[in-house]
Amino acid sequence: MKIYLLLMLIFITSQAATIDGWQRPLTIPEPKDNPITPQKIKLGKLLFFDKRLSRADDISCATCHDPKFGWADGVAQAVGDKEQKGKRNSPTIINSAYLKSFFHDGRASSLEEQALGPIEAEVEMNISVEKVLKKLNAIQGYKKLFLEAFGDAEINKENLAKAIATFERIVVSPPTKFSRWANGEENAMNRIQKEGFDLFLNVGRCKSCHNGFNFTNERFANIGLGDENDLGVYDLNETTNKIWKSTFKTPTLINIENTAPYFHDGSVKTLKEAVHICGNGGRKPVKSRSPFFRDRKYTADETDITVEFLKALSTPKIDIEIPTVFPQ
Ligand code: HEC
Ligand code: HEC
Repeated sequence: MKIYLLLMLIFITSQAATIDGWQRPLTIPEPKDNPITPQKIKLGKLLFFDKRLSRADDISCATCHDPKFGWADGVAQAVGDKEQKGKRNSPTIINSAYLKSFFHDGRASSLEEQALGPIEAEVEMNISVEKVLKKLNAIQGYKKLFLEAFGDAEINKENLAKAIATFERIVVSPPTKFSRWANGEENAMNRIQKEGFDLFLNVGRCKSCHNGFNFTNERFANIGLGDENDLGVYDLNETTNKIWKSTFKTPTLINIENTAPYFHDGSVKTLKEAVHICGNGGRKPVKSRSPFFRDRKYTADETDITVEFLKALSTPKIDIEIPTVFPQ
């Protein structure tokens, strides 16, 4: 009888086996001075999709962070005002609520701090925040929504940033094939995808940087892409130690299937090529490459199998209702 109970217990626990650390925490972190409320989400969403936040009323945040492209934009380098090209690839904003630093070089430390940057950036929306505030303050529909969200109809910088940041915070990843598998749903990933996860953890040692539910340790690394025009963290400050040369933030891999082209400069068109580079210690054997990144040689098969695994990190293409009518 005792043995029977023991076997039952083993059976039950093995069925429910879950892998720790790979599930998105259900509570979304929120700053004390900007709690998430339904009113702010509604307002922030309209602002995020509203092209009137740009100089020529033709670019919204969603132009470059489009749910259709996994919340990125599908082009190598972001295209902003007057068709100008920036030097960097637009990252996805999914799960940005959980990040501690923002941009490829980590130069912003909160979503609130980040939110107004693109409005003023010449190669993005190219308009002063003052002018945007003037535009918005002349739209009665927005004044009403700001009143509901902040108890104040006067639209200012702070509340504009807070509303946009709140909407970004709720853009989180729904369950993926991988997360369902990690949560004990044995058939959520196929055999090849499970093999790919094993390569990701072991042979590829991808996990040294891409770990946790968001597949990033949020650290900075030089993966030997050899881009001489953009030195990442090192460019932020001339006095920075040389070890920061060409280091960039380890990005999330959620939705990676839909966010091509890849890397900070969008220089790689396909996921297969990106994984080939990462599985072979970078594009160039530069000495400064991260020690976690050298000395590995993925075979062509291993690259393909890892790509199949990465596809299990996709979320449904569009899982929100996109606004079509804006406040007047
Ligand atoms: C013209 C394209 C473009 C527009 C418009 C744009 N962005 Fe971005 N966004 C980018 C690029 C490019 C980066 C990376 C820049 C860098 O690393 O220097 C970025 C980075 C970000 C990040 C950091 C993500 C991370 O993982 O570090 C957030 C958040 C973000 N943008 C939100 C916004 C918001 C909010 C708006 C609207 C107010 C906006 N963006 C408008 C192109 C754009
Ligand atoms: C030393 C840390 C480190 C390791 C190990 C690592 N990566 Fe990365 N990965 C990064 C960094 C940093 C970037 C961004 C580099 C850039 O944009 O310049 C990146 C970018 C990527 C990208 C492109 C993401 C995007 O949105 O453009 C993919 C795909 C990727 N890695 C997959 C892998 C795979 C697969 C492995 C294992 C074979 C791996 N990485 C190992 C740090 C690492």
